[in-house]
Amino acid sequence: MMNKTEKILILDFGSQTTALIGRRIREFGVYTEIIAGDTPLTEAILTGVKGIVLSGSPESAYDGGVVPDKRIYERGLPLLGICYGLQRMTADLGGLVEPLPKVEYGGVEVEIHDDGQKTENRAFFAAFDTSIPLKQLLESGAGKAYGCGSSILSFPLRFTAWMSHGDTLTRLAPGFVQAGTSAAGFPAVVVHQEKPWIGVQFHPEVSHCERGNEILAAFVFRVCRCTRAWTMEHYVEEVRNGLSVTVGGNPVLLLISGGVDSTVAGALLLKTLPGEHVHLMYIDTGLMRKHETEGVKSALEKLGAKNLHIINAETEFLAALKGKEEPEAKRAIIGDLFITIQEREVARLGLPESYFLAQGTLYTDLIESGKGVGKKARLIKSHHNVGSPLVDAKRKAGKIIEPLDRLYKDEVRNLGRLLGVDEDVVKRHPFPGPGLAVRIVGEVTKETCGILREADAIFIDELKKRRVPDGTGSLYDAIWQAFAVLLPVRSVGVAGDSRKYGRVLALRAIVSSDGMTADVYPFPMKDLLEIAGMITNTVKEIGRVTYDISSKPPATIEWE
Ligand code: XMP
Repeated sequence: MMNKTEKILILDFGSQTTALIGRRIREFGVYTEIIAGDTPLTEAILTGVKGIVLSGSPESAYDGGVVPDKRIYERGLPLLGICYGLQRMTADLGGLVEPLPKVEYGGVEVEIHDDGQKTENRAFFAAFDTSIPLKQLLESGAGKAYGCGSSILSFPLRFTAWMSHGDTLTRLAPGFVQAGTSAAGFPAVVVHQEKPWIGVQFHPEVSHCERGNEILAAFVFRVCRCTRAWTMEHYVEEVRNGLSVTVGGNPVLLLISGGVDSTVAGALLLKTLPGEHVHLMYIDTGLMRKHETEGVKSALEKLGAKNLHIINAETEFLAALKGKEEPEAKRAIIGDLFITIQEREVARLGLPESYFLAQGTLYTDLIESGKGVGKKARLIKSHHNVGSPLVDAKRKAGKIIEPLDRLYKDEVRNLGRLLGVDEDVVKRHPFPGPGLAVRIVGEVTKETCGILREADAIFIDELKKRRVPDGTGSLYDAIWQAFAVLLPVRSVGVAGDSRKYGRVLALRAIVSSDGMTADVYPFPMKDLLEIAGMITNTVKEIGRVTYDISSKPPATIEWE
C-alpha cells in the first residue's frame, strides 16, 4: 500500500539548482516539495516528511543568507545540507563558516576517508563506491537491510564532485566529523556522529557531479528510508479526491491553448470530474499552426470532452493586426483582444457564478529562478491570461484550480500518456501565445499566415519523419523547438526564363532544457538541403531559405 504523504522537503535558499534537486528525487519515485528556506515548519508542512534537503544559495551563511526555522534541528529528521545548506547547518549548530582563499569551482576531486563510524549514516557512504550501481541504492527501501557499512567499503573512495563555492567550514559544528576532503584540503563531506545529518560541499543534483544521483538516492532510501511510491496513478487519485472536495458539484472551465500543459490539464479534469461539469474553451486566433485546431478538437473529443467550446476569432485578430508591424504593438494587440474575446465568450456560456477556473500551471512555473514557493505570490501561467481580469477575479474569489501545480514538465508528459493523450500532443514543441504573429516579421495578413503555415508544416513533418544521425529517434524528438519564420525580405531568383522575387524564410531549430538558454541544433547538412528544397518546390511564394544559427543568448528563441 502506498504511503500517500511520504515526501522529501527541500528548503530553497535561492540556488539556481534547487528545482533540479526536486526533480532528481522525483525521478526516483519519491514525492518532493520545495518551500522557501525560511518558511515556518508547521505540523501541516512536516506531515509525511521523511527527510529535509537544505539547498545551496548565492548568499553567505555569515552574511545575509536566509535562516531556516530552528525546528528542523529539533525533530531528529534526516537532513542533507548541500553547499550553502551544509554551511547553514554548520553556522546554526555552532561551527564556523569563513571565506575561502580561492573559490572552488567546477570538477573537484574528493576523497572519502571515513564513514561517520558509529551511526546509521554509514549506509549513506555506499553512494561513493563506484562498484555499487544506482539500481541497488534505489532498491534499499524501508524494511530492507542497510548493509554496505565500512565492512564492505574500502576507504579511501574517490570521485569527481561538482562545486561552486566561495566559503568553507573552518570549524565543524559539535558532533560532526569530516568524512570527505577536496583536493585543495577543504571539507567536502561532513556527517553527524549520532544524528542522521549529512552535509556535502558540492552539488549532487548537477549532472556533471560524478555519483550525484547515487548520493541523492543513498540519502533518500538509506538514510530517510523512503519507498518509491510517487506514481502518476497515485497523482490522479489525489487530484480526484482533492477536486471532489474543492469543486463539489460546480462547473469547471479550462482555457485550452493546444499545448501540452493545458491539454493534459483538460484530460485530467475529464478523468477526475463528471464530464458534464467540465467546460473546455479554445480560442482559434487564426495564428495557429496547420491543422492545429482540428487536432486539438479531435484530441479532446477522444478524451471524452462533452462541453468543448471552439471559438473562431481569426477575422477579429487579423482585423486588429492590420497595418501593424511593431513586434510589441502586435503582442499587445493580441494579448488585449484575447482577453476581450475570452471575457465575452465566457459570459456567453452563462455558467453560474460559482464556477471554477482551471489553469495548466506547472510546479516549475511556481519555483522559477529560485524564487521558492510558499511565501511568494503564485506566478500566473504566462500564456494569454497574464493579468487577465477574469483570472484575477477568480483567484480573489478562491475559485482557481491548478491540477498540475505539483508536476514537472516530464511528469506532465507521463501523466498525459497515462490519460491517453495522443503522443503527438504529449511531445509537441512549445508554441508562443501570440502564435504565428511573432514568426511573421512585419505585417500579419491572412496571406502571410497561409504561406508560413504551409512552410512550417513541411519543416515539422520532415523533422518527424527523419531520424537523428545515430538512428535512435526522430529529429523532432531530439529538438526542443523548431519552426519557420517569414521575413519581410524579397530576394531575386529564377523561375523558368524569368527573374522572380520570392520571399525569404528562416528555419529555426534549437536544443534547450527549459527555454531560458538555447543552442542551435547542428543539423546534418543533407537534411537541411533536402528540407529547404521541398519548401521552395512546394510553397511557390518562397524563393530562398536560410537557417538561423544564433544561440540564446544573445538571440531569443522567437524572432519577435
Ligand atoms: P524567447 O523568444 O523569449 O522564448 O527566447 C522562450 C520560450 O517562450 C516562448 N514564448 C512564449 N510563450 N507566450 C507564450 O506562451 C508568449 O508570448 C511567448 N513568447 C515566447 C517561445 O516560443 C520559447 O519557447
